[in-house]
Amino acid sequence: MSTIAFDSDNKIVSLYGKKSSYNIKLYNTSLPLHLHWGAKTCLSVKKSFFPANDRGFMILAEARDNSYLVEEMQFEYGFAENGDFRVPAFRVRDGQNYPITGPFELTTYIYRGKNQIPGLPSARPENAQDLETLELRMHDSKSGLWITLSYSMFPKYDAVTRHVRFSNEGSRPVKIEKAASMSLDLYNWEYELLYLHGAWARERQLQRRPLQSGTTAFGSIRGTSSHQFNPSFALVSPQTTEFSGEAYGFSFVYSGNFLSELELNHDNNLRLNLGLHPDTFEWQLQPGDSFNTPEALMIYSDEGLNGMSHNFHGFIRNHIFPPPFQKAERPILFNNWEATYFDFDERGLVELSDIAADIGVELFVLDDGWFGERNTDRTSLGDWTVNTEKLPNGLKGLAEEIEKRELQFGLWLEPEMMSLNSKLALAHPEWYISIPNRPVAEGRNQLVLDLSRSDVREFLIETLDQILSSAPISCVKWDMNRYLTNVASSQLPASQQQELYHRYVLGLYHVLDEITAKYPKVLFEGCSGGGGRFDLGVLYYMPQYWTSDNTDAVSRIKIQYGTSLFYPPISMGAHVSAVPNHQVGRTTSLEFRGHTAMSGNFGYELDLRALSDTELRQITQQSSFYAQHRRLLQFGRFLRIKSPFESSEAVWMFIHSAASAEDSSDYFLLFWFRLHAEANLPSPRVKLAYLEENVLYEEKSSGLSYTGSELMHRGIILPQLEGDYVSQVYIFQKKGSENS
Ligand code: DGJ
Repeated sequence: MSTIAFDSDNKIVSLYGKKSSYNIKLYNTSLPLHLHWGAKTCLSVKKSFFPANDRGFMILAEARDNSYLVEEMQFEYGFAENGDFRVPAFRVRDGQNYPITGPFELTTYIYRGKNQIPGLPSARPENAQDLETLELRMHDSKSGLWITLSYSMFPKYDAVTRHVRFSNEGSRPVKIEKAASMSLDLYNWEYELLYLHGAWARERQLQRRPLQSGTTAFGSIRGTSSHQFNPSFALVSPQTTEFSGEAYGFSFVYSGNFLSELELNHDNNLRLNLGLHPDTFEWQLQPGDSFNTPEALMIYSDEGLNGMSHNFHGFIRNHIFPPPFQKAERPILFNNWEATYFDFDERGLVELSDIAADIGVELFVLDDGWFGERNTDRTSLGDWTVNTEKLPNGLKGLAEEIEKRELQFGLWLEPEMMSLNSKLALAHPEWYISIPNRPVAEGRNQLVLDLSRSDVREFLIETLDQILSSAPISCVKWDMNRYLTNVASSQLPASQQQELYHRYVLGLYHVLDEITAKYPKVLFEGCSGGGGRFDLGVLYYMPQYWTSDNTDAVSRIKIQYGTSLFYPPISMGAHVSAVPNHQVGRTTSLEFRGHTAMSGNFGYELDLRALSDTELRQITQQSSFYAQHRRLLQFGRFLRIKSPFESSEAVWMFIHSAASAEDSSDYFLLFWFRLHAEANLPSPRVKLAYLEENVLYEEKSSGLSYTGSELMHRGIILPQLEGDYVSQVYIFQKKGSENS
């Protein structure tokens, strides 16, 4: 299948998706210019792609061609110091510290398939025959630098992946000061930005606002992609809704510092850069070496935000998740953290597992506190040997007990850390990130290991291997509870200290590459103080993520709603926990907690021994409902219908987008949540979507039937329920399809 077309007369390269195209003009054999990204467009323009006004104080494109004004051009990769005064996508200096500004010689190369980026996670093609990759290679003969822009179109999802390779074929080192993974210039249009901001325990709160002139920037310099700003965002027109209008989504396949810059200039044209954060990055590129940026993902939809999310969800499940977990159903999980914190022993865990097995749990995860002298968070990270006072029969003994109850066993680890109070810190004080001869800032009583060091990486790989081979462990919860501070490495030369943030992330990916290759069937769940590193870089290795340390169902409705803009429900760990809730002190019903949690990757995290028989019965029904609808909830199409950010209600639905042998499209589930009651409210009325117009759907609890067109165009009135924090799930079955 051909996804790229080259019009040699007009020098236009086009990448075609199902409904979109990305069109590039090769200008004067020296520069790739951006023509269009969005609804599929066939360009017939022969000559003038850019206005050629003679405007005061603007710089002309090149001395040999005085037709175009640099600031009016749309570049594929905007560079500094050439008369384009927008934020540049990259900045590189040659051996004499002069900025490299071209002129470049441009060559084009197209190949079938898509190569993985060495050392970095990047989207995996399902079948190499299904797509092609475009490389635009720009050569600067003065320094010997090659800058290669790579593009692959995944047509089914209207998704373009991009990254950039810098290769030094000169004789002197060059210094990369800034290297965005993608840059996009868009002509005047009114834009609104949707992004996810937050903090620990209130991650990914959705914000939408118009872009105004000047630069809007957000990112992270915390060493991880962070709780504060997620590296995924969208641009929409003011008219775009959940179901209609154009939406352009972006995500960074990376887990460290990043910067998203959006500059709306004096002509209302937008420059958008996404990549490594230049404040905490620099790279010395020696002759003969190459540097690859991480990958950026761009997704288009003309079916509103839900259309964009649908493309992201499918893309992430099929091209980001590790292959063994792309289609695999996920088990119902129990985690002991909020049940016991550090205070547990084997007997208590086995008691919990007995009840867990009875109520329908399938995977039992032992959280923090099983190793060294870890009875508080002040000690023992790095000393990954079993605490035999708590677990006299070791991990193996416990895991086998758990397995006898027909549960899988999972284990918490925080491999990237060391406690100051640990044997590891005594043996290897040089292994943690710190500035020599200066005090380190404390954070959660722990320090971050210097993963740029090969000895540290080897230690981690060996340790993880030992643990995973010591017992039947089928899941690892990989935690990371501290941002990076005092960033220096005793092993890097002075000129490379600015490389450490990125080298840390590369080191992490190296460890994950090794360990997931050796244990491909182990399900890794990511975590970073809850959802502090929820990004495509981590999801490439760990196909589910602990969404937030805030387990309160009311808070979770917003957190999960925001997260769903880009990330599929199957990736969002969501547990029913105790009331009053441990983070916010709120009491909600078991039903409400269940409905919220089953809209994500479902589990329980509370002391089951403290529950009444009635509650246990209710939980058993809940988990069996989840198991019955698991395929739909984990692999179905998730549609946001009413936003909790705009009212005190939330409505969403799950529907199979296409019938397959496993997935019948005979029914769908509609979830309704009321957060705060008010007097005399109108009945909630919502319009549903993606139904068959002329089919009758029966709502099972009332027995009432509605046509698809009625549900979609007139809408349905939901019953008023009394009180705060109430919820309902409705099953709509296609009439006459029960036995089909
Ligand atoms: C932070 C995580 O987000 C929690 O779920 C729990 O695993 C603790 N760490 C354990 O220290």
